[in-house]
Amino acid sequence: MKPKVFVTRPLPNPVIEMLAARCDVQVHPEDAPLKAEQLAAACRDAEGLLAVGARVSEGLLAQAPHLRVVANCGVGYDNIDVAACTARRIVVTNTPGVLTETTADLAFALLMAAARRLAEGDRFVREGRWQRWEWKLLWGADIFGKTLGLYGFGRIAQAVARRGRGFSMRILYHARHRAPEVLEKEVGAQFVDRSGLLRESDFLSLHVPLTPETEHLIRAEDFALMKPGAFLINTARGKVVDEEALVQALKARKIAGAGLDVFEHEPHVHPDLMRLDNVVLMPHVGSATAETRLKMALLAAENLLAALEGRRPPNLVNPETFEL
Ligand code: 8YV
Repeated sequence: MKPKVFVTRPLPNPVIEMLAARCDVQVHPEDAPLKAEQLAAACRDAEGLLAVGARVSEGLLAQAPHLRVVANCGVGYDNIDVAACTARRIVVTNTPGVLTETTADLAFALLMAAARRLAEGDRFVREGRWQRWEWKLLWGADIFGKTLGLYGFGRIAQAVARRGRGFSMRILYHARHRAPEVLEKEVGAQFVDRSGLLRESDFLSLHVPLTPETEHLIRAEDFALMKPGAFLINTARGKVVDEEALVQALKARKIAGAGLDVFEHEPHVHPDLMRLDNVVLMPHVGSATAETRLKMALLAAENLLAALEGRRPPNLVNPETFEL
């Protein structure tokens, strides 16, 4: 008998075909989140769950006694209670690597959009407010030659650094652990302490996973340390920033602006962010290109099949489940 697998969103055909060849697959037909009780009902007999934009809680696991693997379609896995999965010997996997460049592209796009006021300019033109050429119209900030600060120094941060070098930026980074010198040299990034990063960055881009340690990593006192001309770029997770403090900092012009792809309570966006002109807002689409989404889904399927067939998945999040 083929193992039962549930997929939480309609994924491209090649992915479903790949799964269907070896599993009994059920796919949620809508590109919308399932209610917790719907997801639990769908997982009741499932051995594998391919989670795309779905929350996997202890409550769900308790109702899915046959589950052996949760394959997350995403690199961040704060949507999954990994400890609860490990306790039940459920394998958890994610999809690193394939979305690195695409997400770095969006981080850099937000940086440029915030610096050169792209969204504001677009609104200005569309609303018919452009009546004449003006010397002082929509002055922005230079990018070339400025300091790019990276909080975190994983794959995506390094890819953003490489983009920054193309703009002759000075690259600083801060992370829990300093990277090997050879990597620093290759990327052209210099390690600084936390306060140095906050004080010296003209653009501060966040690249840390969401964990209990990184929740509200950036708070009111940090905005006070930043340059008044600085921009905050967040393509990581919304909860890494105290959103209320960010709103206050933007209003008081403690920093110049922000480019945000992620929010503290998605899809809810702080109403004051909606009203501020010095913020560029995107609806959590860092990895959203056709090529990358296909690669993510294929990798998630590959991880899922490996775990179901007793092979070590390429992107194992909780190796304990394999070593037991
Ligand atoms: C996913 C993401 O689309 O990979 C991540 O961490 O944030 C996105 O690429 C999102 O997690 C939905 O699964």
